[in-house]
Amino acid sequence: MTSSLWAPFTAMRPFNRQPMLFDRAAGMHYTTTEGRDVLDAMAGLWCVNAGHGQPRIVEAIREAAGRLDFVSSFKMSHPAALTLADQLVAKAPANLDKVFFTNSGSEAVDTALKIARAYHQARGDSRRTKLIGRAKGYHGMGFGGLSVSGIGRQKRDFGPLLGDVAHLPLPYDAGSRFSLGQPEQGAHYADALLHLLEVHDPATVAAVIVEPVTGSGGVYAPPLGYLQKLREICDRHGLLLIFDEVITGFGRVGHGFAAEAFGVTPDLMTLAKGLTNGAVPMGGVLVSGAVYEAFMQGPEQAIELMHGYTYSAHPLACAAGLATLEVHEELGLNAHVRQIAPLWQNTALALREQALVLDVRAIGLLCAVELKPREGAPGARAAGVAQRCFEAGVLVRASGENIVLSPPLIINQEQVAQVFSTLGKALEATR
Ligand SMILES: Cc1ncc(COP(=O)(O)O)c(C=O)c1O
Repeated sequence: MTSSLWAPFTAMRPFNRQPMLFDRAAGMHYTTTEGRDVLDAMAGLWCVNAGHGQPRIVEAIREAAGRLDFVSSFKMSHPAALTLADQLVAKAPANLDKVFFTNSGSEAVDTALKIARAYHQARGDSRRTKLIGRAKGYHGMGFGGLSVSGIGRQKRDFGPLLGDVAHLPLPYDAGSRFSLGQPEQGAHYADALLHLLEVHDPATVAAVIVEPVTGSGGVYAPPLGYLQKLREICDRHGLLLIFDEVITGFGRVGHGFAAEAFGVTPDLMTLAKGLTNGAVPMGGVLVSGAVYEAFMQGPEQAIELMHGYTYSAHPLACAAGLATLEVHEELGLNAHVRQIAPLWQNTALALREQALVLDVRAIGLLCAVELKPREGAPGARAAGVAQRCFEAGVLVRASGENIVLSPPLIINQEQVAQVFSTLGKALEATR
């Protein structure tokens, strides 16, 4: 088949030969265009947390489309945008008081980086422009997010990115392999921030951005005490701390946000994906009251933040977001994740017996199974395993040498068993 589509992050030639096409989805399953049901162990792309086709979300979108198709968010708004902002703030850790809406995680990250720089500017500290990311971090594909990301291959082809950027190391080493939840060792990796500040002069650094749990880079949970240390160092040196919770928000680790799960509150928090259950594109940045207030000091009529998107707070997205929050409550998803996560994690860990498995990392309803690379063919083994799983009725994601899993949070015990037994058989059949 040849089509005009150029798909993101896709090898187009194999895709055109054998496109993977889906027609429908409901609950835990997709149905392919050939009518085959496939269990979705990726929650779409880490986003369909409440399961596919939730009737309340579908109905809310339908109703919103018929009532108010669009209104600009520049100098005006609509009630659902205000309500969604209030409800998100009510669920967020105390001190995150405002929400700026975007349409994706990438836009949320670039918005957060801009807010961080502009915050220091607004306070008269224009030297603070540098940004610090972390190895294996993924922060979307805008030039800002890509600059702070820690995955070199994704930057290679796009020329100079933001200049004033440095990176922390991944807080993980071989000693933490096969440990479930937060590794006990590794808080000392936060000291690398002190070393970076020695090199860069703390008075020139605007912010540090990390995913509380590294997601796309391969599911690495923060060692116990690590995020607390980052928070302390940021406070001591006047840096803002940004958590990118595009994956970890909305129940993925058994709490509304990873900040709550790990007991550390950032100054800015990016959201997307699970915010609307993936049903309408939407992202956002939660902002602390102190950061927001720094912007509110100039002349009353002046726009405080020269930034925004045509589709910020789109009525359909706000309707989907409000309905998603209701569905989360109604289904008790956070509690369900906390209850089923031990089974998920221990079943994952049993794969350590497989000869090809180098590491298993799991926290909440996230998991990465890292495979030994095939000589001379990076990523080929994981891609082959994912293909076998798909043929056996389970959709998993190959990412580098990892199989990454992040099912809808409504997954039940039988489905957990199905995911890992399918993956186990695919590993056994793979050379
Ligand atoms: C942590 C994180 N930040 C940002 C993004 C970018 O989000 P989007 O693809 O919606 O732009 C992603 C996407 O996977 C992500 O995982």
